[in-house]
Amino acid sequence: SDTPLALTPPMGWNNWAHYMCDIDEAKVVANAEALVSSGLAAKGYDTVTVDDCWMRRERDARGDLVADPVKFPHGMAWLGEHLHAKGLKFGIYEDAGSLTCERYPGSGAPEGGGPDHYARDARLFASWNVDYVKMDGCNLWVPPGKTKEEAYRDAYNAVARALRDSGRPMVLSASAPAYFQQGEWGGADWHKVLDWVGETGQLWREGKDIKVYKASAPRTSRWSSVLGNYGYNRWLGRYAAPGNWNDPDFLIAGAPGLTDAESRSQVGLWAMMAAPFILSSDVSALSPGGLAALGNTRLIALDQDPLGRQGAVVSSSPAFEVLARPLANGDRAVAVLNRSGTDRDVSVPLAGIGLPAPCVVDAEDLWTGKRTETGDALTGRVAAHDTAVWRLTPRGCAEAVPTGQINGL
Ligand code: DGJ
Repeated sequence: SDTPLALTPPMGWNNWAHYMCDIDEAKVVANAEALVSSGLAAKGYDTVTVDDCWMRRERDARGDLVADPVKFPHGMAWLGEHLHAKGLKFGIYEDAGSLTCERYPGSGAPEGGGPDHYARDARLFASWNVDYVKMDGCNLWVPPGKTKEEAYRDAYNAVARALRDSGRPMVLSASAPAYFQQGEWGGADWHKVLDWVGETGQLWREGKDIKVYKASAPRTSRWSSVLGNYGYNRWLGRYAAPGNWNDPDFLIAGAPGLTDAESRSQVGLWAMMAAPFILSSDVSALSPGGLAALGNTRLIALDQDPLGRQGAVVSSSPAFEVLARPLANGDRAVAVLNRSGTDRDVSVPLAGIGLPAPCVVDAEDLWTGKRTETGDALTGRVAAHDTAVWRLTPRGCAEAVPTGQINGL
């Protein structure tokens, strides 16, 4: 099928960063219910994905995957039906290698060679009315004579073909680029994978997992992980377009470990980067501040802007980072991250974001909805670890400089 998929970044929920393998039907159903009752589902967070560890350790006699009957007593077709009845979509996890990361049966060829299960698994998922498949990349066998990059390319191409041939439109969330981290970000192979992965899937992970919830972890570890994933994803705008999204991993805004300011920053930065908005938390336990940030419809509209261009870094200093993003209606979004540990006044000259004099802009603070007009600079106070986000409607500007060309960053 050639149905265009994910023309805006996917939104929803996944269990991994909160529950990891401790997942079952009751937890998925409870979180789906919380998405609905919190109002988040109606705002677009609609795809509920069950991550690794949902299966039995063995396929059945036919070769099909089987849901763990203790964790998922009603089975996966039932779960899909349950989610659909709530107006939600159903996502499921598999792995393009021989085993998942947690060593459950993968879809790929066994180590040493042999038939893969891509077509069989795609048909099974289609029969369960799955809408979204997260295809991880652990334990992928590299046949002799192929490079690692070729093996991943061939595997993800085969997965994409199998999903298409199943006849049911299913979004493909690919993990291939994430398996090419070589110490430093941005190695040659990693970018080679980013060049083809968009032809196989609609979104892809390029990096580390957002830090999972652990009561014993130091207070700042999840914030560092948000900054770390922002840190590599911010440079990848050239790969983003409708139907093709860089995925810096889950939203943990409102979950334990992030302050309200840090939660706003994750939502603001992810929205500027047109990143998938996939929560991974206990939805019924989100902090009020985090829930407000996640449910802010102005921020959601920014993330989901139909132009589908990822924001770019336009200036950077030890304390501040400024991003700008062009939007479908000619508006421009601007964000200022204060990564320092103190509250600071910020002033961003319009010329520095590609809107030189005689530009005047109507600037809407997306957190509050408050509008101001300026022909000079955006100003405000940004709390420690917070991110200010404005939507600018330019008036009387001769010509806006494209955000990718504002400076050499
Ligand atoms: C690695 C992925 O990056 C995570 O998001 C999660 O799916 C785990 N594997 C599951 O094993």
